[in-house]
Amino acid sequence: MDFPASHILSITQFERFDIERIFTVADQMEPYAHRRKMTRVLEGAILGNMFFEASTRTRVSFGCAFNLLGGEVRETTGFQSSAISKGESLYDTARVLSSYSDVIAMRHPDAGSVAEFASASRVPVINGGDGANEHPTQALLDLYTIKCELAAKCREVDGLRIAMIGDLRHGRTVHSLCKLLCLYKNVKAVLISPAELSMPEEYVEQLRAAGHEVIVSDALEANICDVDIVYSTRIQEERFSSQEEADLYRGRFRLNQAIYTEFCQPNTVIMHPLPRDSRATANELDVDLDGNPNLAIFRQADNGVLVRMALFALVLDVAHLVDKYSKDVPWHTANRVI
Ligand code: NCD
Repeated sequence: MDFPASHILSITQFERFDIERIFTVADQMEPYAHRRKMTRVLEGAILGNMFFEASTRTRVSFGCAFNLLGGEVRETTGFQSSAISKGESLYDTARVLSSYSDVIAMRHPDAGSVAEFASASRVPVINGGDGANEHPTQALLDLYTIKCELAAKCREVDGLRIAMIGDLRHGRTVHSLCKLLCLYKNVKAVLISPAELSMPEEYVEQLRAAGHEVIVSDALEANICDVDIVYSTRIQEERFSSQEEADLYRGRFRLNQAIYTEFCQPNTVIMHPLPRDSRATANELDVDLDGNPNLAIFRQADNGVLVRMALFALVLDVAHLVDKYSKDVPWHTANRVI
């Protein structure tokens, strides 16, 4: 794809070559994300960061990524503080806000809403999650993390064996990740969920059409013993009609150190898009895994900044200029080796 001025709405936009380009630029961002260097390449540019659904990592890392490239961030959070609560359409909102910004990142609870907004926007729009549909930047940072974790074991993404666990029906991160894995070869995907929360058929079909082996199951222990990655997810309670309904599934697939030791191969990498539900009734990833060196969840979250910096640099066509506008940081930086 041609990155400059493009919207980033769905993983279907990308070819494998594009993913490699994004990851090369993400690698280039490492000294900036880890505060050894600073760059002013986006000085004067404005990111409109519009989050109409709860978010910590995605919202803040989009903002930090833009700041780290030298740009400014203007933020709208929640419907109540937006004129959308007065009945303003996405079309009008897009027409107005896109004249105040150079690029927009947006999260919205309705599937398709970010694409609708983008069709009226005068500037590129990046999808930060549209309902249960897609979360393309999360899938990119997930795959970037998978690539880094496997590279440490002299492995590549081709041939990956991954178990996705939890609410696969509503989890937009795993929807986008399935689409992304279709660009790679010889993947084994084990999809573990309660039957009612299983991966929508369209994604299973896409994986199979890509030639991948797909196993669908509602049993955790027997299916995590032969994979490189276990990717756990939260029950997406905000997509259920009632809290009681969501509670039926909470705590079904709990991974802790004892289960990991008994069933997983010793170097299996543990991932989760976060937030993990740490309430006692859920705790899909127990805190007793926190000392496990294969727990990659915080490396994964850190990688979100690199990947989002790369996307901004590509969409605003400054990837080749980042180093030209750089200098060393004058303050003392902590040791950020993770
Ligand atoms: C995910 C999301 O919002 O889809 N979080 C994130 O962006 N890192 C997953 C979730 O909320 O469970």
